[in-house]
Amino acid sequence: MQTAGKLMKVFLTRRIPQEGMKILSTGGVCEVSLWDSDEPVPRAELLKGVQGAHGLLCLLSDKIDAEVLDAAGPNLKVISTLSVGYDHLALDEIKKRGIRVGYTPDVLTDATAELTVALLLATARRLPEGVEEVKNGGWSSWKPLWLCGYGLSGSTVGVIGLGRIGMAIAQRLMPFGVKRLLYSGRTAKAHAAEVNGEFVPLDTLVSESDFIVVSCSLTPETQGLCDKAFFSKMKSTAVFVNSSRGAVVNQEDLYEALTSGQIAAAGLDVTTPEPLPTNHPLLTLKNCVVLPHIGSATYSTRGIMAALSANNLLGGLQGTDMPSELTF
Ligand code: NDP
Ligand code: DGY
Repeated sequence: MQTAGKLMKVFLTRRIPQEGMKILSTGGVCEVSLWDSDEPVPRAELLKGVQGAHGLLCLLSDKIDAEVLDAAGPNLKVISTLSVGYDHLALDEIKKRGIRVGYTPDVLTDATAELTVALLLATARRLPEGVEEVKNGGWSSWKPLWLCGYGLSGSTVGVIGLGRIGMAIAQRLMPFGVKRLLYSGRTAKAHAAEVNGEFVPLDTLVSESDFIVVSCSLTPETQGLCDKAFFSKMKSTAVFVNSSRGAVVNQEDLYEALTSGQIAAAGLDVTTPEPLPTNHPLLTLKNCVVLPHIGSATYSTRGIMAALSANNLLGGLQGTDMPSELTF
């Protein structure tokens, strides 16, 4: 929707893959200004850049709250986030102002599930430790119990949040010979039948699982869900994996559980804060594998996410359908 021949103004908080830039620049709908960097936009620049914008394309590292919305002013009609998670958006404030929201579900499900399985295996079978031992001369001989870990065959896996990604993780884990697939969440899922998933109370999942995978969204209910009480119910041989959001986990309690032998190991693709400071206690532990939030990081997935977020933005600007509009 152009006003008097003028292009609508959009602000991008970061450089995005060219698949998205191409769509925005050839549409003849908007004039793009962007924070021309691979690093996050400083808050002051965000507040400045968004002024008068009709559309905002943001990332999960940008907190979009009342202050940003006020700085944007009444023109703002659409926010498109380059992510499926939307816990960085103040939805109540956005709704009050009648602003539409686009996000990127489905297109990153396979990549994120694949990475989560890789993280689970790397953690359970101690791959980073093994690689390190080869390099530092610690590999002296084949030894019966050296670098032993835990296998999936015959195990019980618990998935917290059997949504799009949780389900894709379960589908990938079952062929490893998993015996029972437990899941918890707010409601039982019909699609769980495909993986013989048993809907159980969280306590049952925590105490009976050999592997716990967190793939729920971050909400007020799930914030800090994995805390001291949670870890104290886990088996001492169990492996914990989180690829949802860092804030679902109380990291002090996780550190305690890992150092006291309460649980065997943890693999985290997400932390609080991000990046995790290099002197963080979790990084001193051999039984904790930390990745830098790379769940969806394949070239093709990021290109498709960029294209989808650009098309969401254009739909919102023009008042037409958005390919993936968040209903809230
Ligand atoms: P979905 O909306 O499909 O799934 C979210 C799941 O969270 C649902 O199954 C929901 O279950 C569950 N959930 C919500 N509240 C609770 C609760 N109180 N207890 C347990 N489960 C709950 O989203 P996706 O699968 O597409 O994505 C999930 C999350 O993964 C994203 O929100 C994002 O934070 C994260 N993510 C991380 C990536 C990474 O790079 N590491 C990449 C992509 C996503 P129910 O329906 O029963 O409420
Ligand atoms: C998301 O989309 O929410 C991820 O965390 C990054 O792809």
